[in-house]
Amino acid sequence: MTKYEQVCQELLATPKTWLVTGVAGFIGSNLLEALLKLNQRVIGLDNFATGYQKNLDEVQGLVSAAQWQAFTFVEGDIRDMSTCTQVCAGVDYVLHQAALGSVPRSLADPITSNAANVTGFLNMLEAAKQAKVKSFTYAASSSTYGDHPALPKVEENIGNPLSPYAVTKYVNELYANVYAKAYDFNCIGLRYFNVFGRRQDPDGAYAAVIPKWTAAMIKGDTVFINGDGETSRDFCYIDNTVQMNILAATAASEAKNAVYNVALGDRTTLNALYGAIKHALVENDVNVSQEPSYRDFRAGDVRHSQADIAKAKHALGYEPSHRIQQGIIEAMPWYLANVSQC
Ligand SMILES: NC(=O)c1ccc[n+]([C@@H]2O[C@H](COP(=O)([O-])OP(=O)(O)OC[C@H]3O[C@@H](n4cnc5c(N)ncnc54)[C@H](O)[C@@H]3O)[C@@H](O)[C@H]2O)c1
Repeated sequence: MTKYEQVCQELLATPKTWLVTGVAGFIGSNLLEALLKLNQRVIGLDNFATGYQKNLDEVQGLVSAAQWQAFTFVEGDIRDMSTCTQVCAGVDYVLHQAALGSVPRSLADPITSNAANVTGFLNMLEAAKQAKVKSFTYAASSSTYGDHPALPKVEENIGNPLSPYAVTKYVNELYANVYAKAYDFNCIGLRYFNVFGRRQDPDGAYAAVIPKWTAAMIKGDTVFINGDGETSRDFCYIDNTVQMNILAATAASEAKNAVYNVALGDRTTLNALYGAIKHALVENDVNVSQEPSYRDFRAGDVRHSQADIAKAKHALGYEPSHRIQQGIIEAMPWYLANVSQC
């Protein structure tokens, strides 16, 4: 039995109360689904800045009526301290996902990204500390590696941030570290590397590459590749990310007060990614005839990204369940059902 299977069995036997912020978003709604399926009690907070009611509705359809009864949704904003205090009451584990993602969004509007990602983060951290929750697990980011050239990325070696978004995520780590040391508060940062899967928004100017390209190919639109296509990323399927959140939140105290890479430990170029999505669509009888169009590199992007996941494996018992191709194949039916062809 894996460590994750063992933790899931223990949770099923003794349900806990979880707070998921950003619950109407991509990662938050997948955490909600997994926790409800484990018969946990979940409080969810979201202001619908980039999340959707339809994500919550979809989760409702995937769990039993009794499991859905164990969910309480609060529409509210992490920039408001009283809301953060309200949602932390009686909570065992916090999974803090709410933030404004996207490097380009932060370059276009650093003030709004900072308010959600730094002020909102500190509000949540303080409210969780005051509520004496067992642990505070938060969405950190691989963008914190910034301009550090080494590959693969090891948690202890970071460079200078390359965008306002990266600054905000690094500030999260600094605050969490101070709370761990000054208040003996259990914090775990999860540096996500390009997470993908069902319910990741394919629309809008700041959509991530996999949903954006998948939707374009389904609709017959042109796929634009920034740069020469040899830029690479460590794409991580959502189920691996859910596993890491649950392992981190429930980890023994020796494994807390640290940051962990959440990835596969693989590197996939954009050109290879294009081929993998096209292959998965063809397998689903979608004809992808057009070739991608290459354009300039994008400001603020790092050239290569690949994680070392040894720390998460050793300290938390993380064992990724999905490689990239498997994740793309599993996510495809959702995109085919949810992307309109016109
Ligand atoms: N998806 C990735 O590849 C990736 C990579 C690195 C880090 N992250 C981080 O993971 C977290 C979740 O990302 P996601 O991909 O699910 O994005 P998402 O945009 O789908 O989800 C974020 C959710 O937070 C909510 N939110 C934003 N500001 C809020 C506020 N002020 N108050 C309350 N709710 C607010 C949004 O409405 C949304 O539902 C974010 O912190 C993001 O920075 C994601």
